[in-house]
Amino acid sequence: MTEVDVVIMAAGKGTRMKSRKPKVLHQLAGRALLRHVVDTVASLQVRSQVVVVGHGADEVERALAQPSSVDQALRFVRQEPQLGTGHAVQQAAPLLPDDGISLILNGDVPLIEAATLRELVRSAQAAGGLALLTVTMPDPSGYGRILRGRSPHDAADDGRVLGIVEHQDATAEQRLIQEIYTGVMALPTPWLKRWLARLSPSNAQGEYYLTDIVAFAVADGVPVGACRVQDTVQVDGVNDPAQLAALERAYQRRYAAGLMAQGVRLADPARLDVRGSLLCAADVEIDVNCVFEGQVSLGEGVHIGPHCVIADATVQAGAVIHAFSHIQGSAGEPVQVGTNARIGPFARLRPGTQLGPDVHVGNFVEIKNTSMGRGAKANHLAYLGDAQVGEDVNYGAGSITANYDGTNKHRTVIEAGAHIGSNCVLIAPLTVGAGATVGGGSTLTKNVPAGSLTVARAKQLSLPNWKRPAKKR
Ligand code: UD1
Ligand code: CA
Repeated sequence: MTEVDVVIMAAGKGTRMKSRKPKVLHQLAGRALLRHVVDTVASLQVRSQVVVVGHGADEVERALAQPSSVDQALRFVRQEPQLGTGHAVQQAAPLLPDDGISLILNGDVPLIEAATLRELVRSAQAAGGLALLTVTMPDPSGYGRILRGRSPHDAADDGRVLGIVEHQDATAEQRLIQEIYTGVMALPTPWLKRWLARLSPSNAQGEYYLTDIVAFAVADGVPVGACRVQDTVQVDGVNDPAQLAALERAYQRRYAAGLMAQGVRLADPARLDVRGSLLCAADVEIDVNCVFEGQVSLGEGVHIGPHCVIADATVQAGAVIHAFSHIQGSAGEPVQVGTNARIGPFARLRPGTQLGPDVHVGNFVEIKNTSMGRGAKANHLAYLGDAQVGEDVNYGAGSITANYDGTNKHRTVIEAGAHIGSNCVLIAPLTVGAGATVGGGSTLTKNVPAGSLTVARAKQLSLPNWKRPAKKR
């Protein structure tokens, strides 16, 4: 097997996005467009990847330097100014070893699949020539058209690829051709280098067209093949916000179809967004308009109500997440929801929340960096931050842990079986002992002994026959 070296072109401005952000950094399914391409290529086990950057180069390099799931040799070259796709590849050429196959891609075509690229590389390798990825489009306008005809070397062969003509340079007749170049090609690197040196900008746009090398290959008698991809979504580029949104939908429809094929029951596959990965066991049900971010896994029989946002979380078997809940773990501090837990509606679980089996967290309850043992409950309007809550604790409506003194965070420990009344303030650091009962409205500043009833509020006082002051005239 010949080694594969990849060039990804990402220097263009993306004027039609009308954005300050470089085009290839716009997000699709929670990842930059360019990141999709880099990750797909990395899964091919190539030797190296070179990204050609220009517009917003610093920003693009910074964004891509962040650790990716797959770590492979990724280098950047700068193209300034941007004089066309041929000029872009010329900048990368010195980094391409002569013994490999070059695979050239666009950074703004995010949904290309590894299998398609593998086939293209295989075909370049088998023929020892140039392999183009093409597609037939009902409306080919704007794209480079594939010119076919009789081969100069074999007069009998009539359907040979002879060249690519760019839309702006095409005649009215050529513009009728619906087979277009997708922007992806593979070829032996020595040929690439030879032909790059011959490019000239004598065309309608005054650019160095990479696509001109096709005619050079034909002239040099090097085989040129076209792999036609059936599925246009794989080769659709992003040029404006409407195309970005359309590709986002296409991605999400596919993701939803994949989940349903595994048995996940989606109330409506058109109203699901997965911006990361969603792993589901058997009999998971997901209602409409849920958004999943980062790494989320749902255990057997988990039910997710409508309008939930769930990021970086593990939800164990049988748990139910009711409508409008926001589970907001982070990659470093994922949220854990235990078996048969009941969450929401309108609950908010923040990073570091770890809920045991049968825990109930009700409406307008916020939990952060807190563990709750089996069967513990916080059903209404409460806050638990930096706390350790034992089994079967009942944490009353409106109660809060005052975990922050303005400078430092402190921990609250509530031992098993304690009952915290409504509207209590637990000023941390503090421990409520096992089985203790805290009267409603208490502001606790000291530890509560196990098994006690503790009340920390002003005594109720009644003055009989109270007369309100009369109004002054
Ligand atoms: C190019 C092809 C066209 C093909 C189309 C598919 C050429 C001359 N034409 O068209 O045949 O149908 O892609 O989408 O190659 N880029 C640079 N530096 C530059 C110019 C572009 O890095 O100087 C990058 C862009 O950022 C983009 C990619 O190359 O990622 C393609 O550029 P774009 O302007 O979209 O190519 P087209 O001319 O539309
Ligand atoms: Ca384009």
